[in-house]
Amino acid sequence: MKKYILITGGAGFIGSHVVRQFVNKYANYHIVNLDALTYAGNLENLIDIEKESNYTFIKGDITDEILINQLFKTYRFEGVIHLAAESHVDRSITDPLVFAKTNILGTMVLLNAFKNLWKNNWEGKRFYHISTDEVYGSLGETGLFTETTSYDPNSPYSASKASSDHFVRAYGETYGLPYVISNCSNNYGPNQFPEKLIPLFINNIIEQKPLPVYGNGKYTRDWLYVIDHAIAIDLLYHEGKNHDTYNIGGFNEWQNIELIKVLCQQMDEKLGRPIGTSEKLITYVKDRPGHDLRYAIDASKINKEFGWQPSVTFEEGLSITIDWYLKNSEWLQNVTCGLYQDYYQKQYK
Ligand code: NAD
Ligand code: TYD
Repeated sequence: MKKYILITGGAGFIGSHVVRQFVNKYANYHIVNLDALTYAGNLENLIDIEKESNYTFIKGDITDEILINQLFKTYRFEGVIHLAAESHVDRSITDPLVFAKTNILGTMVLLNAFKNLWKNNWEGKRFYHISTDEVYGSLGETGLFTETTSYDPNSPYSASKASSDHFVRAYGETYGLPYVISNCSNNYGPNQFPEKLIPLFINNIIEQKPLPVYGNGKYTRDWLYVIDHAIAIDLLYHEGKNHDTYNIGGFNEWQNIELIKVLCQQMDEKLGRPIGTSEKLITYVKDRPGHDLRYAIDASKINKEFGWQPSVTFEEGLSITIDWYLKNSEWLQNVTCGLYQDYYQKQYK
């Protein structure tokens, strides 16, 4: 008997790498990818595995309680890996309500369906919530976020993720629901929608458009290559301690402006443009309201307990990422002109 595992948000950036990892590695699992295909969901991310016999895609919204209950009844998911979310801070500033709906209510609908199905038999079940380091708020010049750092979110996005983390824990305490949570730093890599810093700037450099740097550019993020995150998720799904939390990070802090300069130089080299061409596109723009100064993760717990560590340096990961975007210009074009949203229509209808 195959084990049915629900992965939510599997058509998105990180989710698509997690789906691929599980479909290719675990023939004994059947992976059901549930995704609403919002602007961030792109089935072209999964073309290579969509015909695998241990994979099913379902278009649906995690806030749709009737659908979710029906899916749990049909598939009897023993595991849930929950990534579906609204994920972009800038969008959360312009439209916070959709973040509350998807990230908080959607998580609760899933928790409830999981609880109702398994409350008399938690043995061997797992609900894994993929969260962010942004729940911890902002660091000053020094220090690192550990698993015991207090939650102190500043944006509607991070507040909604903090809230969903709290609900996961509350279901663990109240109903005994077996959960794991991981809080990860900023991801980068292939298939990221070009609204986040790195893919947006890669796209703008290709098109020789301005690179909008918020404020003075001296904000710091800790960057992790997305496949290393997918590997950590695989590890924690299987080995993570029940009712526990893990921080995942890249041991890789960069001030935005320094990262952008490295990106510009690599892009110039790869595009055969004189060094300095892309840097001229840097344009300082109005700052993001409530902009967190610095995120940095202490990932020593997952490292000590499981030996996990990033497999690539930032320069290597960035180089692979740029190469991927240059090679997949059609993917990028489809995303920037909206054509990717026709794929579901063509493929599944
Ligand atoms: P993404 O925006 O690329 O993908 C989100 C996916 O969720 C999309 O496929 C979208 O269609 C789907 N989705 C959105 N609303 C939905 C709904 N109501 N029902 C069903 N599906 C819905 O996001 P991502 O960057 O891949 O992030 C995935 C998860 O990882 C999120 O929970 C995010 O908070 C978390 N995370 C992201 C980062 C990062 O740097 N990107 C870092 C740490 C944690
Ligand atoms: P982003 O990729 O949106 O991730 P997050 O806000 O979740 O960390 O942004 C990364 C950093 O880059 C953040 O400090 C904001 C900054 N930034 C810019 O300066 N310009 C941009 O156009 C974007 C999208 C981000």
